[in-house]
Amino acid sequence: MQLVIYFLMILTYTHADYPALKALLSEKGLRDVSQMLSVQIQSKLKSTEIPEFRGGVDIKIGTVHYVLSNMRVVQCSMTDPSLVFVEGTGVSVEVSQLTLSITGSWATQFGIIHDDGSFDVAVYNIHIYTLLQLGDDAGRLSISTVQCSADVGSVDIHFHGGASFFFQPFVRAFSGQISGMIREQICPAIQQAINGLETTLQEIPVNIPVDPYLYLSIPLTSSPAVTHHSFELDIKGEFYSRSSPSEPPFSASVFDMPYAENYMLSIAASEFLVNSAAYAFLSSGALQINIRDDMIPKSSPIHLNTSQFGAFVPQLRTMYPNMEMQVLLYASETPLFSFSSGVIEIHVPAAAKFSAVKPDGALLPLFRLDVDLNFNGSARIDKNLTGAFQMKNLTLTLGSSEIGDFKTDTLEQISVMAVKMFLLPKLNAALKTGFPLPTPQGFSLINSQLLINNGFVAIFTDVQDSLTGL
Ligand SMILES: *[C@@H]1O[C@H](CO)[C@@H](O)[C@H](O)[C@H]1NC(C)=O
Ligand SMILES: *[C@@H]1O[C@H](CO)[C@@H](O)[C@H](O)[C@H]1NC(C)=O
Ligand SMILES: *[C@@H]1O[C@H](CO)[C@@H](O)[C@H](O)[C@H]1NC(C)=O
Ligand SMILES: *[C@@H]1O[C@H](CO)[C@@H](O)[C@H](O)[C@H]1NC(C)=O
Repeated sequence: MQLVIYFLMILTYTHADYPALKALLSEKGLRDVSQMLSVQIQSKLKSTEIPEFRGGVDIKIGTVHYVLSNMRVVQCSMTDPSLVFVEGTGVSVEVSQLTLSITGSWATQFGIIHDDGSFDVAVYNIHIYTLLQLGDDAGRLSISTVQCSADVGSVDIHFHGGASFFFQPFVRAFSGQISGMIREQICPAIQQAINGLETTLQEIPVNIPVDPYLYLSIPLTSSPAVTHHSFELDIKGEFYSRSSPSEPPFSASVFDMPYAENYMLSIAASEFLVNSAAYAFLSSGALQINIRDDMIPKSSPIHLNTSQFGAFVPQLRTMYPNMEMQVLLYASETPLFSFSSGVIEIHVPAAAKFSAVKPDGALLPLFRLDVDLNFNGSARIDKNLTGAFQMKNLTLTLGSSEIGDFKTDTLEQISVMAVKMFLLPKLNAALKTGFPLPTPQGFSLINSQLLINNGFVAIFTDVQDSLTGL
């Protein structure tokens, strides 16, 4: 018995852990990241405050103490950093041929002799190599520096003002100290930047409210997978009802996202992600609507009253003549989406509870119709995510009745007509305009493609920095 429980626990554990959402960065994506990084590093360098630096040079008759301050990077140039996936670890970042021009003020003290002025330095051929490890910290992406080295090529320094001529002989000594100082600052600065990034990552919530009804749970289900050509995140991707969160009666299944080398980014969501949203809407009580006659357009040939419904349900005319009616339309179970190559199918089990409205507003329950709807359709990305759906079939049966049996074929035909003539045109008009894909702030998606495959839907896309256009 214990063994059985143990295996059941393993089974339920692993099942709950299949990711329903996957995101993959390709080598092409990494190349584009390196361009964005180049722009960022340069702007970051220009805004960095360089700490004051103090030192001394022994001139045999004593030591000249100096302090370099107000240092600022006024110019920098570099080739794009080279970013490479390191299988099983993360990403290596290599910056070469970084050249900086720095200006600042100098002051010296030799005994009681004080002097000061300005200086400019050009630092050539800075070379930085750092290896970043990407991991999983309790469901959140984590990043850390596992290796860092920095080299400085040559330094060209010029002093202005004061008794500069007095210093020029010591420039050689200064140069060595300054290149040493710069080299020593680089790795701690990188470490600090990565620590800052790590703090930001750990502050990202794993449950994200999406609307008044739902939140999306996005912890990682496993450590990021880094291969020599990609970086993939496996994410839980399950929607929950905010008011009554619970697990749906179905679970996520395994799926493999195809590798698309021509796109920077691939994102795939399984049926489970979509269906968990449907289940969460159902649990939140969002999938129901009360339809009164005053909500039906005057021009409609069908109205909610017993006189007219008497044509389909004859006993209404004798039992409850000339009364208004009301319908509670609701999903009786979770509407389920399924994806297969190029096609999205939706199964909607619904029910409609009909009541007569007494003059005092009280409701007299009449009967319940069970409606089974099947739609199929397709979706594509045309700037927005757009789609078009058709009705495959609709079956209508009498679920229960307070007023006795009656035939439902005519009601079924009318329902088919109503869906085809009113519901679908409205839905398809909205889907034709579509809605924008969620995009991180400051970025836009370009060249996006949608693939509907067995069990999942994937988006392959390039990402553009909206500001720089890179
Ligand atoms: C019921 O609906 C029909 C068709 O719209 C209308 O002619 C009739 O007046 C309505 N009867 C009541 C009692 O609302
Ligand atoms: C939906 O199903 C109908 C009939 O079963 C078929 O004719 C149509 O091509 C399908 N549409 C899509 C988008 O698969
Ligand atoms: C409606 O479609 C479903 C799924 O495609 C199928 O199982 C069912 O038999 C269909 N019903 C009718 C009446 O065609
Ligand atoms: C995209 O969707 C939004 C919201 O539905 C709409 O306002 C916009 O016009 C759509 N854009 C295009 C290009 O259709």
